[in-house]
Amino acid sequence: MDLAVIGTGYVGLVTGACLSDVGHNVTCVDIDESKIEKLNQGISPIYEPGIEELIEKNAKAGRLSFTTDFANAVKKSKVIFIAVGTPPKDNGEADLSYVENVARGIAEAATETKIVVEKSTVPVETGEKIKQVLEHYNPHNVKFEVVSNPEFLREGSAIEDFSNPDRVVIGTDSEDARNTMREIYKPLTENILFTDIRSAEIIKHASNSFLATKISFINAVANVCEKTGANIEHVAKGMGLDNRIGKSFLNAGIGYGGFCFPKDVDAFVRLSEKNGYDFAILKEVQNVNRAQRVAFVKKIESSMWILKGKKVAVLGLAFKPNTDDMRFAPSIDIINNLLLEGASVSAYDPQARENAKEIFGDKIELCDSIYETLKDAEALILLTEWKEFGEIDFEKVKELMKGKFVIDGRNFFDEAKLKEKGFIYKGVGK
Ligand code: UDX
Repeated sequence: MDLAVIGTGYVGLVTGACLSDVGHNVTCVDIDESKIEKLNQGISPIYEPGIEELIEKNAKAGRLSFTTDFANAVKKSKVIFIAVGTPPKDNGEADLSYVENVARGIAEAATETKIVVEKSTVPVETGEKIKQVLEHYNPHNVKFEVVSNPEFLREGSAIEDFSNPDRVVIGTDSEDARNTMREIYKPLTENILFTDIRSAEIIKHASNSFLATKISFINAVANVCEKTGANIEHVAKGMGLDNRIGKSFLNAGIGYGGFCFPKDVDAFVRLSEKNGYDFAILKEVQNVNRAQRVAFVKKIESSMWILKGKKVAVLGLAFKPNTDDMRFAPSIDIINNLLLEGASVSAYDPQARENAKEIFGDKIELCDSIYETLKDAEALILLTEWKEFGEIDFEKVKELMKGKFVIDGRNFFDEAKLKEKGFIYKGVGK
């Protein structure tokens, strides 16, 4: 089927590449010419494992192309996915001006029936608004069907998530659109939940907010474990063995970050408020998440006492492993607080170096290797659990570091082994 995807960010690019991989003809559109130029050379603007291989394979096969020619892409496609950014405004609400612009552009360019799929993360009722815009600016009197098809991709495993979805959610009131969407997703899954547009939009808000709640809940339990002498890892395991709870998203640590959870939870709180409901549970989820970072800095201080003038080595800056993304990463607050206390910070991340450079400038020393980072440090602070940190040679680290503190924000290292080697180890919730 001929499809267009507007916006080549994480969501748009993964959607476009994966849909072309199952045989659809996909045109990806962006207004950023340099991005499109790079994509045409097979260079991805985002770091996502496997994305460049997928782009190369499908571009070569003639099923995937990149262009800035919006009108032409709309004209030749039966279905148009809107995957442009919805960044938070100063007041925390999502800025939907890009979505509106795209809807308006589609209305103006289309000369025959189109199905318009809302893929960006948007507040409930955006589907209705898109419908209104399409009908309002419709010079060729075209019939438009609107679909909400929320994404549930995790950065770092987005291709895997897209290709093997737990479920696909399609919200629409049109039978034609339902059948077309079923056909698009058929090569991937037949496990599709059809709903009305508003319910599909709420499913996205509620799913992400529930996952964030799970993380804050386990972090709150971790705090109780710390105070009572229990071990959060045993507690989480015991809880997760209950099928009704499930073991995923029960890793205690420094809290959630990234571009989705903080933004989505905030948007759900606000939209509930706007509609007359005080979603107090979610406000507390946010409080616990914020407090977790503060408590972690306190833990570093209480271990090392004075931070002023001391070198601390941070391993991991991205908000989670397998991504270069540092948006709303816990590492930003934690490092800024260490700097405020007068510590000097060296840091290493396998992918987020460039983004970290933009955020911290010369305020921290960005290193090219784990061992360079740790040289002469008083403490090793782990903030992101990259797999390669599991292979650190701690005998070597002992020689390199001045101090013996290992403060682990993700309960990643083997506590017993480190203690045996003479390190002073602190995790979260144990
Ligand atoms: C999330 C959702 O999982 C995805 O479905 C949605 O579409 C977009 O938002 P993502 O932000 O890529 O995906 O990352 P995810 O793997 O969900 O992790 C989010 C944050 O929670 C990370 O900072 C991670 O470190 C943290 N986290 C996750 C925990 O602290 N503990 C956990 O047990 C799980």
